[in-house]
Amino acid sequence: MSIRWNRLSMVTALLAGGFVTAVWMTPVLNAAANDEPWKAPARASRKQNPIAADEKSIATGKAMYAQNCLSCHGATGKGDGPAAKDLEKNPGNLANPALWDQTDGALFWKLTEGRKPMPSFDKTLSENDRWNVINYVRTLAPKPAGAASQPTKDGGN
Ligand code: HEC
Repeated sequence: MSIRWNRLSMVTALLAGGFVTAVWMTPVLNAAANDEPWKAPARASRKQNPIAADEKSIATGKAMYAQNCLSCHGATGKGDGPAAKDLEKNPGNLANPALWDQTDGALFWKLTEGRKPMPSFDKTLSENDRWNVINYVRTLAPKPAGAASQPTKDGGN
């Protein structure tokens, strides 16, 4: 009886130990910044920007950017904000014309989801303000000839 009991408690202890290790390791593993290229799903990329990039939207977006993005991305989007040097990952360059390879829908998805160390703005910015901020970010990078911020017929990505 006592031998069986000991065996059972040993198995239980091992299982519990493994579980605790797994739970403990998960945040450690998640804490590492992801090195994979950050790509929005095709479906998200096809989402249309419902807000015209007029003066009002760009002005609102600029204010949102100053409050929520500038600390990392910098005043001109070059990734040189005051907090950028302490990040485990470079925020990249929003002033790079290559940003036009992505649709507004793709950028919207990235703002909504976030990816460490960039926070998710799902709760902190309304949908409209996420589109406004995208309309502003578009003013930071010169638009290459022929680039489209809205999805092309094949969906783009
Ligand atoms: C805490 C710092 C931080 C803040 C605040 C932040 N970002 Fe970022 N952002 C990053 C980092 C770091 C990346 C690169 C993430 C990656 O590639 O995994 C990034 C990536 C991006 C990208 C993707 C660029 C690409 O080439 O695909 C966009 C767009 C973006 N941020 C816009 C914004 C906007 C707009 C805001 C404000 C609403 C914002 N970010 C706030 C750090 C930040």
